[in-house]
Amino acid sequence: MSETENLCDIIIFGGHGDLAFRKLMPSLYHLCNDGYLNHKSRIITVSRSDMSRDEHIALVEKKLEEFLEKGQFDKAKFENFKTQLEVVQVDFADDESYQNLKDILAEYTERERVNYLSTSPSFFGSICKSLDQWGLISKQSRVVLEKPIGRDLKSSQAINVEVLKYFKESQIYRIDHYLGKDTVQNILALRFSNMLFAPIWNAQYIDHIQITVAESVGLEGRWDYYNEFGAMRDMMQNHLMQLLCLVAMEPPCSLDADSVRDEKVKVLRSLRPLTPADIEQKTVRAQYVKGMSDGESVPGYKEGEGVAESTTETYAAIRVDIDNWRWNGVPFYIRSGKRLSQRNSEIIIQFKSVPYSIFANKGKCISQNRLVISLQPNESIKLKLMNKIPGLTEQMRLQEVDLELNAPVDITRKVGAYERLLLDVVRSNPTLFMRLDEVEAAWKWADVILEGWAENMVPMKSYSAGSDGPSAAIALIERDGRSWHDEW
Ligand code: BG6
Repeated sequence: MSETENLCDIIIFGGHGDLAFRKLMPSLYHLCNDGYLNHKSRIITVSRSDMSRDEHIALVEKKLEEFLEKGQFDKAKFENFKTQLEVVQVDFADDESYQNLKDILAEYTERERVNYLSTSPSFFGSICKSLDQWGLISKQSRVVLEKPIGRDLKSSQAINVEVLKYFKESQIYRIDHYLGKDTVQNILALRFSNMLFAPIWNAQYIDHIQITVAESVGLEGRWDYYNEFGAMRDMMQNHLMQLLCLVAMEPPCSLDADSVRDEKVKVLRSLRPLTPADIEQKTVRAQYVKGMSDGESVPGYKEGEGVAESTTETYAAIRVDIDNWRWNGVPFYIRSGKRLSQRNSEIIIQFKSVPYSIFANKGKCISQNRLVISLQPNESIKLKLMNKIPGLTEQMRLQEVDLELNAPVDITRKVGAYERLLLDVVRSNPTLFMRLDEVEAAWKWADVILEGWAENMVPMKSYSAGSDGPSAAIALIERDGRSWHDEW
């Protein structure tokens, strides 16, 4: 790496928060140790509390030991990494305290700067304003906004308008960490580097698509945040929509940022808006009640901190229709929830039946082919095909078998989504970040549902913690004569 390559100051607002310790610091630790980030780059934590550099370093060390995967913390590597750590006290409510940040940045005024806003979205506008007033934004500055940006289209527009007063759209990196996952990027590779799928990736051959992001964890201490957002705003409007876009988009003309984002936004604009009758029939919202998780009894959502009266959903399932030539008549069933029986994210492409079966197959129907893309915790891609059962039976008998894609793995460590995305910001590559029009189109679709839910168009269902979710979600897909395929 040259003297100046990937050299920048990374300033983390909300740098002593949950996300910063769980994801950002571990990712930066790897990027520094693996030589992707210039060793002269500084990681400047902005903290509300007044803390000495030594205290900050000790805290980061403790948190890395806690949040790095087992065996990844290395004392010698940390000694290296800690030379890049700085801390500065800024209280967002006290504009004068930005002087502290100005002082530390003054050491390298020409340096590129990445401002990572890992705070509540309500602070985005005021932080950008202060950065501008203190002369801390240059042409080479970038700002990273954590999702969700707003609670609806209106509030998201208000935030974006504020941020856009100080940063150009090309300097804004709206993060959705699902786009940083290798397995998610592999959807592009699978679709656009294999001719095999190209002619059949449409309504003529595909019956429907299922997208599931199931989590076994609960709120992990994020009650205040979660209760304000819920499954729809926390997962569906962003992570699941992004997965849907990658599956449904047309081939982009290149992999550059705007070509990919142009195609995603076309999908979002083609989402059929739900009518009140659709909201009733095609959406499910639910909250978990007490149950068993990982062999332990866990309390229900409303028994958590300060949410006794909450109407926040911890589970959502929706039938989505895309009004365009490729997908007309192909429903996308998407669902996500907390405290489910397992952590599992997968995309299932269910192909249509053969037009006519020549096989008797003992009265059993021939299974429709399915492409199963498992994203996490296990990564795999399987094509479910029908195959002859070997033997001398008079009538040919068939069974479903898996054709599995086994990628030769020669990497020593699985790279985390935030690592990839942080490096892309440092390298000024916005391909895997959301453009303004994408965020707005996704909110436009989500708003209709959220408003319907606020008006109680569909009742809040419940499901036991540790179960597979509410029975209403099963009914949702079964009404269309289909069923969820849980491949895990
Ligand atoms: C975050 C949500 O964006 O994604 C969390 O705020 C959720 O509620 C998390 O748990 C899931 O991410 P992953 O990478 O563990 O699937």
